[in-house]
Formats: sequence, structure tokens, C-alpha cells
Amino acid sequence: MAEFHKLGPVDEVSPGEIKQYVVEDRFVALCNVDGEFHAFEDVCTHQFTHLSEGEFEDSVVTCPLHGAKFDVKSGAAKSLPAVKPVPKHEVKVEDGNVYVALNTKRVKVGGRRGLRR
Ligand code: FES
Repeated sequence: MAEFHKLGPVDEVSPGEIKQYVVEDRFVALCNVDGEFHAFEDVCTHQFTHLSEGEFEDSVVTCPLHGAKFDVKSGAAKSLPAVKPVPKHEVKVEDGNVYVALNTKRVKVGGRRGLRR
């Protein structure tokens, strides 16, 4: 069963906002789309940068480095230069707080890519 980690109170991320958290040494982006929370690995799948530092509008986040767009509801890459989706994390809201269960899939970019199989 997935282990949930508390991020913070629901009002910490308002509708239309995105924020970065660090959970077990992983960067997690939490965003609020019209009151619905979505969490995903806060690392672009093109090169290492944080998507939470990019523009966030409707349900799309734009990478601050080269402009790739990702659908935060599915994690899908919607435009080049990124082609791979960002791993989504499971989210639940309980007693006014937001919790995430980390996806075991991780983004592999940069120098590490060639070292792993
Ligand atoms: S690092 Fe995100 S599009 Fe290049």
C-alpha cells in the first residue's frame, strides 16, 4: 500500500497556483486546478529544471528553460522539446491537509541517464 506524506494545509496552494515541496529528497510539484490538486515530479523530462518555476495556466505548466508544455492532470508532454511524461503522484486530501504518495517512476535526465538501465 502506498505511503502518504503530508505536504501542508489545502489553503497553501490556491486555485491557479503551483508550489514545490521536497519529499524524501525528491522534488514534488503540487498545483491546484479549480480546487483539484495534482502532484507530479518537479523535474522536466527534457533537461534538469523545475517545472514549478515555469508558467502555470489552466491545467498546463510550461517549462521555464525551453518552453515544453505538460498537462498537469495526466503528466503528458504536450509540446517539444520534451516528449516523455512527468510521473504523477497520487494525491489525497484529509482533514484539511494535502498528502502525496510518491510514484516509484522517476525522471531520468542529465548525466545520470547513461549510468542506469
Ligand atoms: S528543460 Fe524543459 S524543455 Fe528543456
